[in-house]
Order: sequence, then C-alpha cells, then structure tokens
Amino acid sequence: MPTVLSQPVTDRLTHSAIFLVVTLNADPRADLAVQALCNDLAGLLRAVGFRKPDRRLSCVMGFGSGAWDRLFEGPRPAGLHPFREIKGVHHAVSTPGDILFHIRATHMDLCFEIAGTIMSRIGEFVETEDEVHGFKYFDERDLLGFVDGTENPVDLKAAEATLIGDEDPVFAGGSYVIVQKYLHDLKAWNAVPVEQQERIIGRRKLSDVELDEADKPSYAHNVLTSIEENGESLEIMRDNMPFGNAGKGEYGTYFIGYARSPARIERMLDNMFIGNPPGNYDRLLDFSRAVTGSLFFVPSATFLESAQVRGRDSSG
Ligand code: HEM
Repeated sequence: MPTVLSQPVTDRLTHSAIFLVVTLNADPRADLAVQALCNDLAGLLRAVGFRKPDRRLSCVMGFGSGAWDRLFEGPRPAGLHPFREIKGVHHAVSTPGDILFHIRATHMDLCFEIAGTIMSRIGEFVETEDEVHGFKYFDERDLLGFVDGTENPVDLKAAEATLIGDEDPVFAGGSYVIVQKYLHDLKAWNAVPVEQQERIIGRRKLSDVELDEADKPSYAHNVLTSIEENGESLEIMRDNMPFGNAGKGEYGTYFIGYARSPARIERMLDNMFIGNPPGNYDRLLDFSRAVTGSLFFVPSATFLESAQVRGRDSSG
C-alpha cells in the first residue's frame, strides 16, 4: 500500500502563527491557480523554511465544503460540511471560508514570508475573509491569563486524535479543522475574582493545576469540553493563539481545533454554547464572543502534491 503523508497537523505548538482564511472569486482561472499552489506548497515551504530550519516553519492548507465541490471531482470527505451555526445561550456564528492556511513557526518573519508567497500565487483570485497574526503570551497563556494547551494530546495520541484512518479510507491521513475567532471583554473578565475565573476554566490560574473534581462546577470549560464515547475520551488537538490590537482595544483568542471527525469538536461546541444539560453553558462565553466560525477538510500532503482540479483540461 502506498504511504500517505499527512500535512503537519500534529506539529508541536509554536510561538507565532498566521491564520489566513480566503474565499475564491468567480474567475475560472482561480481553480488552476489553487491547483498549482497545492502542487507547489511543499516546495515553497522548503524554499522559505530551509534558510532557518530551527524556526520550524509549517503550513496546513484546508478546504471548505463549497470549495471542495467546486475544485475536486470524485469522492468527498465523509465529514465535510459547512460550519453549523449554533444558537444556544450564546451564538456561534458561521462565516465564509473556502481555504484556510494555518501557518506556524517559532518566529513571525517566516510566517509572514510564506503568507506573502502564497498570496503572490493566488491573491488575484481570492478575497481575504480574515487574517490573524497570533503570538504566544508569556508562559503559553491566553489573554485571559490562563495557560492554554496543557491537555493537548502529543505524539502518537495527537495523530490518533486528528488523522483519519480506516473510517474513510480514500481520505486516510487527512483531518478536519474548525476555527473561531473570539474577542474578549477583558475589562469584565478582570473584574471577576480569580477564584471564580478558575472555576470557569477548571484550572488554577497561576500554577495551571487542574481543580479537584469536587471543586469543579459542571459548567467548567474543561468539564464541558471533555467528552467520551463508549468509555473512551474523544480528543482534539488545539493550537489557540492570542492576538490583539492595543490601540483598538481588541484582545482575542484564535481557536483552532483539529480532529479526525468534526463531530467531536461540534459536540464540544454544543456543550459550550447550548450547555450540557442545556442551560449549563460555558461561562467563558459571557466574556468571549465568537465573531467567525468555519470548518475545513485538510487533505493529506500526498493528495495536495498531485491534486488536479475539476475541468482542468477544458479551462487550461
Ligand atoms: C475563547 C476561546 C477559548 C479559550 C480562551 C480556551 C481556553 C482553554 C484553557 C485555558 C484550557 C485549559 C488548559 C488546556 O488544557 O489547554 C482549555 C482546555 C480545553 N479547551 Fe479551550 N478555550 C477556548 C475555546 C475552546 C473551544 C471552542 C473548544 C472546543 C470546541 C475548546 C476545547 C478545549 C479542550 C478539549 C480542552 C481540554 C480539556 C481537558 O481535557 O482538560 N476550547 N481551553
């Protein structure tokens, strides 16, 4: 059986990232430009990244449901659909996105260089829906002051949580990713006593130690996002990043979660926004508003390398 190489979904977390979400315009030449970019992405990453290998440049490319149908013929990934908006106690909006580029490196220079290179190839054919430059804040904290990422699976467990296997053999080695851009009301959050903030997250703020089960409310973030199926916990891999604009008073967290099925991330979102049971929602959302929400399929690197778009012969 030929070896399928995955995109660097499970790469270690880095200190800089760019989250670039674009939509394709109607120009039929867009499709061929995307095809060429898919085929060349690994080479472009080598060209930019090899000059500073210790800075661990990587880029994951994902496709929204509509873009997948426009670009590619044949079977489609079993779990791919547009991001489902949730209207619960709080609102998870669904916003446009045909292609996601999740660019990571230890330093922003490499992220910026590859983002520019990507846009030089497809910029003429896309609208940029959102571009967020994320950074790590002190010791892996989000702007709410809590260490973020501690319970992420690593190594084999990360691969097991994120990469599609026998359940969808044509797309084995692929993954799904959901992104949401959250804006925080930091003034209101900082007015909440630290002990209550800790109950909302389910961990101590300074030490990052998890609260005892007896002290954790049922609405704690880490209770609502810990889910199981047949006694096994269903994990996802997150690489949240703080971002902001001090002059505009904008303080946010860019949520990005990878999983081998979007259903598990959607279940976590339902628990957070609607509550489990309904009404027992995530209090983090009283201080954090989701202003974007999109779902993408991440094909394997092997797929990207030889990807061919629909109607290639007639349009080319
Ligand atoms: C404003 C946005 C968010 C912030 C600031 C945030 C912050 C945090 C923090 C501080 C932790 C505890 C440390 C850790 O294990 O990483 C955590 C855990 C976690 N979060 Fe979030 N999070 C956000 C959104 C989300 C969303 C949208 C999901 C899933 C749909 C999610 C899923 C998880 C999971 C699975 C854990 C680990 C739970 C455990 O096993 O203990 N988070 N998050």
